Amino acid sequence: MQRENWGSRVGFILAAVGSAIGLGNIWRFPYMAYDNGGGAFLIPYFFALVTAGIPILIMEFSMGHKMKGGAPLTMAKLNRKWEWLGWWQILISFIITVYYVVVISWAINYVGFSMTLAWGNETISFFTGDYLGLTGGPFEFGGFQLTILITTISAWVINFIVIYSGVKSGIERANKIFIPVLIVILLIILLRGITLPGAAEGLNMLFQPDFSKIADGKVWVAAYGQIFFSLSIAFAIMITYSSYLPKKSDIVNNAFITGFINCGFSVLAGIAIFSILGFMIHQSGGELPAKLSGVFLAFATIPEAINELPAFQKTIGVLFFISLTFAGLSSFISINEAAIAGITEKLYKPRKKVAAWYTLIAMIISLIFTTGSGLYILDIVDHFINSFGVAMSGLVEVILIGWFFKTKILKDHFQPISDFKVGIWWDIAIKVITPAALGITAIMNFANEFSKPYGGYDRTALILFGWSIVVGIIFLGIYISTRKWKNVHIFDYYDNDDNGEEV
Ligand code: PHE
Repeated sequence: MQRENWGSRVGFILAAVGSAIGLGNIWRFPYMAYDNGGGAFLIPYFFALVTAGIPILIMEFSMGHKMKGGAPLTMAKLNRKWEWLGWWQILISFIITVYYVVVISWAINYVGFSMTLAWGNETISFFTGDYLGLTGGPFEFGGFQLTILITTISAWVINFIVIYSGVKSGIERANKIFIPVLIVILLIILLRGITLPGAAEGLNMLFQPDFSKIADGKVWVAAYGQIFFSLSIAFAIMITYSSYLPKKSDIVNNAFITGFINCGFSVLAGIAIFSILGFMIHQSGGELPAKLSGVFLAFATIPEAINELPAFQKTIGVLFFISLTFAGLSSFISINEAAIAGITEKLYKPRKKVAAWYTLIAMIISLIFTTGSGLYILDIVDHFINSFGVAMSGLVEVILIGWFFKTKILKDHFQPISDFKVGIWWDIAIKVITPAALGITAIMNFANEFSKPYGGYDRTALILFGWSIVVGIIFLGIYISTRKWKNVHIFDYYDNDDNGEEV
């Protein structure tokens, strides 16, 4: 079967950047930096980018490019026993996609709300009450919220059309629209933000370095976690996207460009958000907004700030929520593409058919997050999958590849086709620094969880929406990997028994 290719190098980079830039850059990074030492956070953050982010991007790009497969096929070609890791990563992405889509649907609704400032003065109670219909706890479902349901389905439909249209005419084309628009909007909001009164105070809050935090292990764990989530590494995505690269492709350069655009975008988003927060503090006479993080930052605090703006409130509102929508959609599509590519190759069924079935099933599952208890369940699932899915599958990946695979095979693959060559730094990053950082992260996450169960939810909810998912997908991944590939010739292209040369 002929494998589709990206139409151009820029197309690939935009798609990779589209996956990387997402909700995480806009609402996660600014708060994380603020909470973990302000300006001083940039040191562990850039350290994590250079010692884990970019080296793993190079690794995943060259794995996908060399093996020409989605994550399960690529892993299986590296070593037949590793296929399960590819499925595990796809399942992690799948868990994320079913709630990520609902946040995108909120953003779409808020584009509409911006046009009339429908959230009124009490933005928090509008968000949780009028809009989400939030109930008393995770088991009180309280019915579907129709507005959310409709935009959630719309996001799935957009996703379906894009993926159905293929790599080049669907995904590449969509990102060629999303990413430039996103960057222009960010610059407009940034300009508006930094020219507001009080902006400087906000930026001081964000950037004032608290160097004592650098000695705190938690800050480093936060930095590595943010880099993994933000660059979409260890999610099966970058392997899949790079498998569509044409033969002559510069791996190293592409990884650097993707990493730096993503992190640059995060820093700019941080500046935009915090100058607006500074303006709010200025207006309210020094009081810090009630909610600085996560969903509340985007859907309650920013609307509150928009209310205060001297002019163009609605325009800024519309622009902000369009940027969330576009950032979200391009990441959302990448997650689903990784899963659909994996399933297509395993079952040897037409991509379009797989896309249709996948979308239908995933859409139905995602509807649970459109109920009145959606936010609670989302909060639990998100916490567990990030603490015990993302970081751990990344850890397993670097240990398997770094210690049990001849990394020289990968290096010999990407060095000749890349413009500038990497040195021993790459090996040390893959084999030593990243496994150590992720190992410590895993230990700290477990210790944290057992000393204090997450978020004050009751045990049943944490077991049902947390632990059973985290453990269940590992077994499901292993199970799927025991099933036969429907087209055995899919392995002919590369045989692991030889010395790693393509045949
Ligand atoms: N990288 C995206 C972000 O920063 C999120 C994402 C996570 C995308 C997992 C794909 C997979 O929001």
